[in-house]
Amino acid sequence: MACSKGLVGDCTMLDVNNLSKSFGALQVTQGVSFHLNKGARHALVGPNGAGKTTLFNILSGELAPDSGRIIFEGTDITSYNRWRRVRAGISRSFQGSNLFLESSVLGNIILALLTCRSPATNVLRKLNSEKALKEKAVVIATKVGLKDQLAEKVGDLAYGSQRQLEVALVLALSPKVMLLDEPTAGMSLVEKKEMLSIIENLSTNLSILIIEHDMDVVFHVSNWVTVLDDGKILFEGTPEDARKSDEVRSRYLSEE
Ligand SMILES: Nc1ncnc2c1ncn2[C@@H]1O[C@H](COP(=O)(O)OP(=O)(O)O)[C@@H](O)[C@H]1O
Ligand SMILES: [Mg+2]
Repeated sequence: MACSKGLVGDCTMLDVNNLSKSFGALQVTQGVSFHLNKGARHALVGPNGAGKTTLFNILSGELAPDSGRIIFEGTDITSYNRWRRVRAGISRSFQGSNLFLESSVLGNIILALLTCRSPATNVLRKLNSEKALKEKAVVIATKVGLKDQLAEKVGDLAYGSQRQLEVALVLALSPKVMLLDEPTAGMSLVEKKEMLSIIENLSTNLSILIIEHDMDVVFHVSNWVTVLDDGKILFEGTPEDARKSDEVRSRYLSEE
Protein backbone atom coordinates (compact mmCIF):
# COMPACT_ATOMS: atom_id res chain seq x y z
CA MET A 1 0.00 0.00 0.00
CA ALA A 2 1.32 3.41 -0.91
CA CYS A 3 1.59 5.48 2.22
CA SER A 4 1.26 9.06 1.15
CA LYS A 5 1.50 11.88 3.63
CA GLY A 6 -1.66 13.21 5.10
CA LEU A 7 -2.92 9.69 5.70
CA VAL A 8 -2.87 8.48 9.27
CA GLY A 9 -4.01 5.29 10.97
CA ASP A 10 -2.44 2.33 9.19
CA CYS A 11 0.23 4.50 7.65
CA THR A 12 1.68 5.87 10.86
CA MET A 13 4.63 3.99 12.35
CA LEU A 14 5.63 6.63 14.89
CA ASP A 15 3.27 9.24 16.22
CA VAL A 16 5.45 11.82 17.96
CA ASN A 17 3.07 13.77 20.12
CA ASN A 18 3.82 17.13 21.72
CA LEU A 19 7.27 16.23 23.06
CA SER A 20 9.07 18.72 25.29
CA LYS A 21 12.43 18.53 27.00
CA SER A 22 14.51 21.03 28.95
CA PHE A 23 18.04 20.89 30.26
CA GLY A 24 17.81 23.25 33.23
CA ALA A 25 16.59 26.58 31.88
CA LEU A 26 17.35 25.56 28.28
CA GLN A 27 14.20 24.33 26.55
CA VAL A 28 15.60 22.15 23.79
CA THR A 29 12.45 20.40 22.56
CA GLN A 30 9.28 22.48 22.51
CA GLY A 31 6.01 20.71 21.79
CA VAL A 32 7.31 18.71 18.86
CA SER A 33 4.71 16.63 16.99
CA PHE A 34 4.98 14.76 13.70
CA HIS A 35 4.23 11.41 12.10
CA LEU A 36 6.77 9.01 10.66
CA ASN A 37 4.91 7.03 8.03
CA LYS A 38 5.41 3.43 6.99
CA GLY A 39 8.19 3.18 4.42
CA ALA A 40 9.02 6.87 4.76
CA ARG A 41 12.39 8.38 3.96
CA HIS A 42 11.85 11.29 6.31
CA ALA A 43 14.59 13.88 6.78
CA LEU A 44 14.96 15.87 9.97
CA VAL A 45 16.94 19.01 9.28
CA GLY A 46 17.78 22.19 11.12
CA PRO A 47 20.72 24.29 12.23
CA ASN A 48 23.24 23.16 14.81
CA GLY A 49 21.72 23.15 18.25
CA ALA A 50 18.15 22.95 16.89
CA GLY A 51 17.52 19.87 19.04
CA LYS A 52 17.69 17.12 16.41
CA THR A 53 19.93 14.71 18.30
CA THR A 54 18.02 15.38 21.51
CA LEU A 55 14.84 14.37 19.69
CA PHE A 56 16.56 11.15 18.55
CA ASN A 57 17.65 10.50 22.14
CA ILE A 58 14.04 10.86 23.25
CA LEU A 59 12.74 8.60 20.46
CA SER A 60 15.32 5.89 21.12
CA GLY A 61 14.79 5.94 24.89
CA GLU A 62 18.13 7.44 25.91
CA LEU A 63 16.36 10.48 27.31
CA ALA A 64 12.92 10.76 28.92
CA PRO A 65 10.83 13.69 27.70
CA ASP A 66 9.44 16.13 30.28
CA SER A 67 6.07 15.80 28.58
CA GLY A 68 4.49 14.37 25.47
CA ARG A 69 4.01 10.87 24.14
CA ILE A 70 5.53 8.53 21.58
CA ILE A 71 3.12 6.10 19.95
CA PHE A 72 4.69 3.25 17.95
CA GLU A 73 2.32 1.19 15.81
CA GLY A 74 -0.54 2.28 18.03
CA THR A 75 1.19 1.46 21.34
CA ASP A 76 2.32 4.14 23.78
CA ILE A 77 6.03 3.40 24.26
CA THR A 78 6.94 6.60 26.11
CA SER A 79 7.82 4.63 29.25
CA TYR A 80 9.80 1.91 27.41
CA ASN A 81 13.55 1.86 28.01
CA ARG A 82 16.03 1.70 25.15
CA TRP A 83 16.15 -2.09 24.85
CA ARG A 84 12.42 -2.50 25.00
CA ARG A 85 12.18 -0.04 22.11
CA VAL A 86 14.81 -1.99 20.16
CA ARG A 87 12.81 -5.19 20.69
CA ALA A 88 9.65 -3.37 19.60
CA GLY A 89 11.43 -2.35 16.37
CA ILE A 90 13.09 1.05 16.82
CA SER A 91 16.85 1.19 16.31
CA ARG A 92 19.23 4.08 15.92
CA SER A 93 22.77 4.60 14.74
CA PHE A 94 25.55 5.87 16.92
CA GLN A 95 28.43 7.75 15.40
CA GLY A 96 31.41 5.47 15.98
CA SER A 97 30.78 4.83 19.62
CA ASN A 98 29.49 1.27 19.28
CA LEU A 99 32.03 -0.17 16.85
CA PHE A 100 34.55 -2.72 18.15
CA LEU A 101 37.64 -1.48 16.33
CA GLU A 102 39.77 -4.51 17.21
CA SER A 103 37.21 -6.99 15.89
CA SER A 104 36.32 -7.87 12.29
CA VAL A 105 33.39 -6.56 10.26
CA LEU A 106 31.75 -9.97 10.54
CA GLY A 107 32.43 -10.12 14.28
CA ASN A 108 30.81 -6.73 14.83
CA ILE A 109 27.67 -7.68 12.93
CA ILE A 110 27.39 -11.07 14.66
CA LEU A 111 27.70 -9.39 18.03
CA ALA A 112 24.88 -6.99 17.11
CA LEU A 113 22.75 -9.93 15.98
CA LEU A 114 23.39 -11.73 19.27
CA THR A 115 22.35 -8.77 21.38
CA CYS A 116 18.75 -9.00 20.22
CA ARG A 117 18.31 -12.78 20.49
CA SER A 118 16.30 -13.98 23.41
CA PRO A 119 17.78 -16.72 25.67
CA ALA A 120 15.02 -19.12 24.55
CA THR A 121 15.98 -18.68 20.92
CA ASN A 122 19.60 -19.28 21.83
CA VAL A 123 18.84 -22.65 23.40
CA LEU A 124 16.56 -23.83 20.60
CA ARG A 125 18.94 -22.87 17.84
CA LYS A 126 22.16 -23.87 19.52
CA LEU A 127 23.13 -26.60 17.07
CA ASN A 128 23.15 -24.63 13.84
CA SER A 129 23.25 -21.16 15.31
CA GLU A 130 26.78 -20.35 14.24
CA LYS A 131 26.11 -21.07 10.60
CA ALA A 132 22.77 -19.27 10.61
CA LEU A 133 24.24 -16.27 12.36
CA LYS A 134 27.09 -16.02 9.92
CA GLU A 135 24.74 -16.26 6.96
CA LYS A 136 22.55 -13.54 8.39
CA ALA A 137 25.59 -11.35 9.05
CA VAL A 138 26.79 -11.80 5.46
CA VAL A 139 23.38 -10.77 4.12
CA ILE A 140 23.52 -7.61 6.24
CA ALA A 141 27.14 -6.86 5.25
CA THR A 142 26.11 -7.19 1.61
CA LYS A 143 23.29 -4.69 2.09
CA VAL A 144 25.76 -2.08 3.34
CA GLY A 145 28.42 -2.81 0.72
CA LEU A 146 30.87 -4.57 3.04
CA LYS A 147 30.66 -8.15 1.83
CA ASP A 148 34.24 -8.07 0.52
CA GLN A 149 35.58 -6.77 3.83
CA LEU A 150 34.08 -9.31 6.24
CA ALA A 151 37.41 -10.35 7.72
CA GLU A 152 38.91 -6.88 7.93
CA LYS A 153 39.65 -5.34 11.28
CA VAL A 154 37.18 -2.49 11.76
CA GLY A 155 39.94 -0.18 12.97
CA ASP A 156 41.65 -0.60 9.58
CA LEU A 157 38.57 0.29 7.53
CA ALA A 158 38.23 3.59 5.71
CA TYR A 159 36.04 6.16 7.48
CA GLY A 160 33.18 5.71 5.02
CA SER A 161 33.22 1.93 5.49
CA GLN A 162 33.07 2.35 9.26
CA ARG A 163 29.97 4.51 8.82
CA GLN A 164 28.49 1.82 6.54
CA LEU A 165 29.12 -0.70 9.30
CA GLU A 166 27.17 1.52 11.72
CA VAL A 167 24.17 1.14 9.43
CA ALA A 168 24.75 -2.63 9.41
CA LEU A 169 24.63 -2.71 13.21
CA VAL A 170 21.27 -0.94 13.14
CA LEU A 171 19.98 -3.43 10.54
CA ALA A 172 21.16 -6.33 12.71
CA LEU A 173 18.58 -5.36 15.30
CA SER A 174 15.78 -6.09 12.77
CA PRO A 175 14.20 -2.66 13.04
CA LYS A 176 10.93 -1.46 11.58
CA VAL A 177 11.99 2.12 12.25
CA MET A 178 15.58 3.25 11.70
CA LEU A 179 16.89 6.48 13.16
CA LEU A 180 20.05 7.59 11.37
CA ASP A 181 21.93 10.53 12.87
CA GLU A 182 23.90 12.25 10.11
CA PRO A 183 25.02 9.06 8.34
CA THR A 184 27.01 11.03 5.76
CA ALA A 185 28.73 13.46 8.16
CA GLY A 186 32.41 13.94 7.41
CA MET A 187 32.28 11.85 4.24
CA SER A 188 33.91 12.55 0.91
CA LEU A 189 31.64 12.95 -2.09
CA VAL A 190 32.35 9.38 -3.21
CA GLU A 191 31.60 7.99 0.26
CA LYS A 192 28.39 10.04 0.42
CA LYS A 193 27.21 8.64 -2.90
CA GLU A 194 27.82 5.10 -1.69
CA MET A 195 25.94 5.73 1.57
CA LEU A 196 23.03 7.25 -0.36
CA SER A 197 22.76 4.25 -2.63
CA ILE A 198 22.86 1.95 0.42
CA ILE A 199 20.01 3.87 2.05
CA GLU A 200 18.06 3.96 -1.21
CA ASN A 201 18.34 0.20 -1.61
CA LEU A 202 17.12 -0.65 1.90
CA SER A 203 13.76 -2.38 2.08
CA THR A 204 10.76 -0.13 1.65
CA ASN A 205 9.27 -1.96 4.65
CA LEU A 206 11.71 0.06 6.73
CA SER A 207 10.65 3.51 7.86
CA ILE A 208 13.65 5.79 8.10
CA LEU A 209 14.07 9.05 9.97
CA ILE A 210 17.35 10.61 8.99
CA ILE A 211 19.09 13.64 10.45
CA GLU A 212 21.00 15.28 7.66
CA HIS A 213 22.91 18.50 7.24
CA ASP A 214 23.70 18.29 3.57
CA MET A 215 20.66 19.61 1.71
CA ASP A 216 21.75 17.87 -1.48
CA VAL A 217 21.54 14.61 0.42
CA VAL A 218 18.14 15.57 1.87
CA PHE A 219 16.72 16.38 -1.55
CA HIS A 220 18.17 13.19 -2.96
CA VAL A 221 17.15 10.67 -0.33
CA SER A 222 13.97 11.90 1.35
CA ASN A 223 10.32 12.09 0.42
CA TRP A 224 9.33 14.18 3.44
CA VAL A 225 11.13 16.89 5.37
CA THR A 226 10.67 18.23 8.88
CA VAL A 227 12.65 21.36 9.71
CA LEU A 228 13.43 21.85 13.38
CA ASP A 229 14.50 25.29 14.53
CA ASP A 230 15.17 26.24 18.12
CA GLY A 231 13.38 23.11 19.38
CA LYS A 232 10.21 23.76 17.38
CA ILE A 233 8.94 22.55 14.05
CA LEU A 234 9.39 25.31 11.51
CA PHE A 235 8.23 23.43 8.44
CA GLU A 236 6.89 20.08 7.28
CA GLY A 237 6.41 19.02 3.70
CA THR A 238 7.95 17.51 0.62
CA PRO A 239 11.55 18.34 -0.24
CA GLU A 240 10.23 20.34 -3.21
CA ASP A 241 7.99 22.40 -0.93
CA ALA A 242 10.90 22.92 1.51
CA ARG A 243 12.95 24.28 -1.33
CA LYS A 244 10.13 26.66 -2.30
CA SER A 245 9.27 27.81 1.22
CA ASP A 246 10.43 31.37 1.88
CA GLU A 247 10.53 30.69 5.60
CA VAL A 248 12.76 27.62 5.24
CA ARG A 249 14.98 29.35 2.73
CA SER A 250 15.47 32.47 4.81
CA ARG A 251 15.90 30.71 8.15
CA TYR A 252 17.85 27.67 7.11
CA LEU A 253 18.72 26.95 3.53
CA SER A 254 20.48 30.29 3.16
CA GLU A 255 22.98 29.11 5.79
CA GLU A 256 24.10 26.24 3.58
N1 LIG B 1 22.61 16.45 27.95
C1 LIG B 1 22.54 17.76 27.73
N2 LIG B 1 22.63 18.66 28.73
C2 LIG B 1 22.54 19.99 28.51
N3 LIG B 1 22.35 20.54 27.31
C3 LIG B 1 22.24 19.72 26.25
C4 LIG B 1 22.32 18.29 26.40
N4 LIG B 1 22.18 17.71 25.18
C5 LIG B 1 22.01 18.74 24.32
N5 LIG B 1 22.04 19.92 24.95
C6 LIG B 1 21.85 21.24 24.32
O1 LIG B 1 20.63 21.19 23.63
C7 LIG B 1 20.70 21.93 22.41
C8 LIG B 1 20.34 21.04 21.26
O2 LIG B 1 21.36 20.06 21.08
P1 LIG B 1 21.24 18.90 20.03
O3 LIG B 1 19.98 18.15 20.24
O4 LIG B 1 22.50 18.13 20.07
O5 LIG B 1 21.14 19.73 18.66
P2 LIG B 1 21.41 19.31 17.15
O6 LIG B 1 21.56 17.83 17.08
O7 LIG B 1 20.22 19.83 16.39
O8 LIG B 1 22.66 20.03 16.73
C9 LIG B 1 22.12 22.49 22.35
O9 LIG B 1 22.09 23.81 22.83
C10 LIG B 1 22.89 21.57 23.28
O10 LIG B 1 23.98 22.25 23.82
MG1 LIG C 1 23.12 16.54 16.37
